[in-house]
Amino acid sequence: MSLRAIAYVSDAVEDLDGAGIDHILAEASSFNRVAGVTAVLMFDGQRFVQYFEGPDDGVDSVYQRVLNARSHVHLRELAHGEVATRHFPRWTMASARIDAEVLSGIVDTEWRGFTAAAPVDGQRRVGFARMLELWTGVSGELEPAAVTLGS
Ligand SMILES: Cc1cc2nc3c(=O)[nH]c(=O)nc-3n(C[C@H](O)[C@H](O)[C@H](O)COP(=O)(O)O)c2cc1C
Repeated sequence: MSLRAIAYVSDAVEDLDGAGIDHILAEASSFNRVAGVTAVLMFDGQRFVQYFEGPDDGVDSVYQRVLNARSHVHLRELAHGEVATRHFPRWTMASARIDAEVLSGIVDTEWRGFTAAAPVDGQRRVGFARMLELWTGVSGELEPAAVTLGS
């Protein structure tokens, strides 16, 4: 079974509060579990970055929900393609509040080639590598972060 992943950045709508974020996380987590999708969500107070992965049909249905969500606007895809393996196998929707500079460091850089098992033709998967390191440290997966978004 092939696995696919999508990463994007988007702007939260202005009136989104902690309760709204809690709602997104709860809805997303239960839907993702059924869809077989694993995901991480980062938020700097204004922008979201999300990465999610799973089987084609699960990823398609989650993406449709993400695209239809009214809680964010200006969604920009960073990467979309096949992945060799799950990078976050245990997390249906892990979330973390991160600094704006850290988020910028993840999105304002090269994501091309993130789907290859190894960088191709000198492509450096800088954005993806930074995101991965944020969640897993340098020596493998850490325990899921406590849900730190929302109220
Ligand atoms: C940043 C963000 C990430 C989301 N991630 C997921 C997800 O991983 N899985 C899912 O089923 N829905 C996801 N959603 C959709 C939420 O379930 C949806 O926003 C929530 O039900 C509230 O709907 P509303 O944003 O239209 O008010 C996401 C929405 C946003 C804004």
